[in-house]
Amino acid sequence: MNKIKTIGVFTSGGDAPGMNAAIRAIVRTALYYNINVTGIMRGYEGMISGEFIPMSRKSVANIIQRGGTILKTARSEAFRTKEGRKEAFEQLKQHNIDALVAIGGEGTFTGANLFIKEFNIPIIGLPGTIDNDLLGTDFTIGYDTAINTVIDAVDKIRDTAESHDRLFIVEVMGRDSGLIALRSGIGVGAEAILIPESRTDIDALFKRLEESRSDKSSKIIIVAEGDKIGGFEITEMIKEKFPKYDTRLSILGHIQRGGKPSCMDRVLASRLGVAAVEALLNGRKGAMVGLINNNIHYTPFYNAIKHLSEADPNLLKIVNILSL
Ligand code: F6P
Repeated sequence: MNKIKTIGVFTSGGDAPGMNAAIRAIVRTALYYNINVTGIMRGYEGMISGEFIPMSRKSVANIIQRGGTILKTARSEAFRTKEGRKEAFEQLKQHNIDALVAIGGEGTFTGANLFIKEFNIPIIGLPGTIDNDLLGTDFTIGYDTAINTVIDAVDKIRDTAESHDRLFIVEVMGRDSGLIALRSGIGVGAEAILIPESRTDIDALFKRLEESRSDKSSKIIIVAEGDKIGGFEITEMIKEKFPKYDTRLSILGHIQRGGKPSCMDRVLASRLGVAAVEALLNGRKGAMVGLINNNIHYTPFYNAIKHLSEADPNLLKIVNILSL
């Protein structure tokens, strides 16, 4: 055991369902090991401005089922500057915080990496993002809930699409990643799935629509937000090429980030929260804790934030076989 007496916990970047379950697990594990926990509000923003709150077993009661994050979150511009990070470090010192658990995604871990290099403070990360775009974990906290939200919404769109014999383009979140689109697209039986990891070949899409069974009364195309062409443009192109289709665009937006976390996300957050605190107590730092093949793994921040450059070819193949 090393000399950690107080751990600071914060959520940062886009929120994700299951962040509260993670906060609960971190607080209760730390208290179990007789370590104090301080909550840092609004991520790095609150660290800089000194928005700290003491955490107790009670302060995390009744939150495991709640979406969002009780610690709030932000994307901090100030923390990108050296002065901002220095101020944050001063605040941590003043409040006797000697280690951190950061719950977030790529931006959060990029900041954490710099912070460790400059001030040598121990930080362990938990993957909290609906995008599932971090290496070193099969799934990120929030992803399972988000894809279930998507399939719930698209099932409803399917009802109206069937009634009107319509083609729907549905744009889902994922600025740099098509993983929400890919998995939810398979889950709703999409005609095609367009993602940033592979070049969108509009002629291939047209061919697919031409070849698709004429007795299908509804068609769904899932487009990731980060697709190079984008949902709006694709809708316009399809309308022009296939005037016979009654085509509509639906952008699901931020409903994908809200809602009660699924059981998968609650359990994932709980397991990773416990592992994060134990890792700090065992002297680990600068790594994200994740789950690979159901086992805990630690991945250095600089590896966790490297992007997957291609989508799983097995999933892509499934789409092609099943959607005809
Ligand atoms: O990173 C999660 C995410 O929901 C992305 O999928 C999306 O592109 C982005 O956040 C939207 O962020 P904001 O809510 O800040 O506009």
